[in-house]
Amino acid sequence: MNYIYSIISTGKNFYGDTDPVALAEEFGTPLYVYNENILRKRCRDLKGLISYDKFVVNYSPKANSNLELLKIIRDEGLRADAMSPGEIFLNLKAGYQPGEILYICNNVGEDEFLYAIQSGVNISVDSLSQLEMFGKLNPGGEVAFRLNPGVGAGHHEKVRTAGSKTKFGIEMKLVPHVKKLLKEYNLKLIGINQHIGSLFLTGEAYLRSTVNILKVAREFEELEFIDLGGGFGIPYKKQAKEERLDLRDLGKKLSDRIAKWTAGYGKKIEFMIEPGRYIVAESSILLGRVNAVKSNYGIKYIGTDIGFNVLVRPAMYDSHHDIEIYRKEGEPSDHEETVRIVGNICETGDIIAKDRKLPELFEKDIIGILDSGAYGFSMSSNYNNRLRPAEVLVEANGNCRLIRRRDTLEDLAGKFVE
Ligand code: LLP
Repeated sequence: MNYIYSIISTGKNFYGDTDPVALAEEFGTPLYVYNENILRKRCRDLKGLISYDKFVVNYSPKANSNLELLKIIRDEGLRADAMSPGEIFLNLKAGYQPGEILYICNNVGEDEFLYAIQSGVNISVDSLSQLEMFGKLNPGGEVAFRLNPGVGAGHHEKVRTAGSKTKFGIEMKLVPHVKKLLKEYNLKLIGINQHIGSLFLTGEAYLRSTVNILKVAREFEELEFIDLGGGFGIPYKKQAKEERLDLRDLGKKLSDRIAKWTAGYGKKIEFMIEPGRYIVAESSILLGRVNAVKSNYGIKYIGTDIGFNVLVRPAMYDSHHDIEIYRKEGEPSDHEETVRIVGNICETGDIIAKDRKLPELFEKDIIGILDSGAYGFSMSSNYNNRLRPAEVLVEANGNCRLIRRRDTLEDLAGKFVE
């Protein structure tokens, strides 16, 4: 095997007993390949974040909701959050009890509230308006609310979900109104949650936001949990040796704060986090095939079958994903060049990597898009009526197993009513 450029996956033995070219041949491309060992390791990293016996990690399945992966994550002892009835449904299918699911909803209608209430999951509301709707539907019930602690974080403004430029959460100054509505509908406030944004690589903003949520939480006497949110980042630039988030340091500071707060509150309640990306991102490499190589006005384009319907992050947020190259036969690439890696979708913005220096690529090469497990498949679509890809799992024993079949052409027609 002539792998050309595969330091990261080789270092992790990512492909177990198989190899990417064989996987591409067997299952076709584009193909999401997951590694069970890495997934389990990332679950354990975060379970060990805080030393507090009522510490809970709620996995956020918006990052990836493949049922087989959810089952592994559940097996590692994580619980779950949900953002939609679909995520509640999938969590239940993965084996979670309703009480293990926190439904953090945003601008939902009565029907969705009723689905959640009847499912028996815990529910957090995101505005006074929604608290009132919930109160009318379920007077005397239990509820949580999402606080906007005024501090945001994240890799792009589109994913910063606290502070003054976002639709999310209830502002701290509105807490008296929350109290009024709780009283009016005889609701018991069992939790407060926040989520300040997605992907931070230093803990500074997360820690700052906890000061605010802990302050607000002191005003409520019957809390059963405080949820500090997700957002834990991973290093996407591994080939450039980007540093990991220092979990030990962040965990120690959080543990100290929680211990202090708990002493003041007088009882031990659950403390939660709700990571998505950190758990699944590094467990997947997306395989694609080079179909065409061309030059247009001085730019060399590498045309692949990975359109933004398969992985939208680079097109949507200018996100960086490292790229590997796998080649079974043929000459090794003896020089590097700057290329634009693109997909097969009808838009100029269909770019996976803009100006990337890589060893020379040729038609039929297999490329691997690293760290594609979070917001990869879950944001994929049938745009251009392309088929959503298959997913395979490299199991802990090194074997490989299909965990979602590729769409078929019939699937494209299947949702229409005759
Ligand atoms: N909790 C709530 C309420 C959230 O909205 C999110 C993510 C999470 C938890 C999990 O955040 P994480 O730990 O994965 O950062 N599509 C974007 C990321 C969007 C995140 C949306 N909310 C991306 O590909 O970067």
